[in-house]
Amino acid sequence: MQEQIKNINTLEELQALYTATFGKNGTMTARLKEMKNLDNDARAALNLENQTLRELFKTRQTEIENAVLMASLSKQKLDMSLNPMPENRGTLHPLTQSLTEIASILESFGYTMYTGPQVEDDWHNFTALNTPAHHPARDMQDTFFLPNGNVLRTQTSAIQIRAMERDGVPIKMFGIGSTYRKEMDATHSPMFHQIEGLYINKNITMSDLVADIRAFLSRFFEMDNVELRIRPSYFPFTDPSIEVDLKWQGGKWLEIMGAGMVHPNVLRNCGIDPNVYQGFAFGFGWDRLAMLKYGLNDIRQFYDNDVRWLSHTGF
Ligand code: DAH
Repeated sequence: MQEQIKNINTLEELQALYTATFGKNGTMTARLKEMKNLDNDARAALNLENQTLRELFKTRQTEIENAVLMASLSKQKLDMSLNPMPENRGTLHPLTQSLTEIASILESFGYTMYTGPQVEDDWHNFTALNTPAHHPARDMQDTFFLPNGNVLRTQTSAIQIRAMERDGVPIKMFGIGSTYRKEMDATHSPMFHQIEGLYINKNITMSDLVADIRAFLSRFFEMDNVELRIRPSYFPFTDPSIEVDLKWQGGKWLEIMGAGMVHPNVLRNCGIDPNVYQGFAFGFGWDRLAMLKYGLNDIRQFYDNDVRWLSHTGF
């Protein structure tokens, strides 16, 4: 019997022999039933045999199970040449990335970041900015009006009003945020972003303005010394007003921002005496600056949130 157990190679055969031995009608079961008729020595021998056989079955079962496992493992192949699963790493949105750069430059010049509401009242978006009702300059911006007379902010200039009203002067701030106008093509989106700078103090002049713009653009575009063209322009909230062009690759001039000396009416509207304080403001398209820096040509891609495009911008 012991030899027989050791020669069995499948769990099924082992189970069959086990049942034939220890099952209800098994040979050992029958012998154990007759144990009471045996003398002490014979009983002890039978007990030992019973014990030994059970252990043998158990040992053989483990051996067969291990052999089955090893056989199946040796058949399985682990293909180490397979490429690992792609790692989906996040990237910063180009606007976020450019904001980080813009903010760190302006902050290093002493400007503090402000935000404001996207739904603005008429006062902050227009009137306080020296653009009263029926002022022709309101037509420069295709405004989204809400039924209650509020507007979707058309310009971050509204933030400079809130900043001066709240914190007074002297003030050196920049406002960032989304702005809205009814326009849509490759370079215009109904929602876009602007950044606005403002510095009000005593004895601030136009050359302070040009110096900061020049330093900012040089740092942002990583150019040694940017070439600028300052053109006279018109904005209701600045006087004099200028438009700044930047000399780009290939000698092309790009219109890059509007700016000027803050109009005395704007200061008065914020409770500031224009005979004591003066200053400048400038405003530019944040999306546009990012597009130029990273060589992108369609503003709408910023907002499509196509992950393939976003990850290929790869900043
Ligand atoms: N708010 C102007 C616009 O949206 C941009 C601008 C021009 C802002 C001149 C200024 C400025 O602060 O001084 O077109």
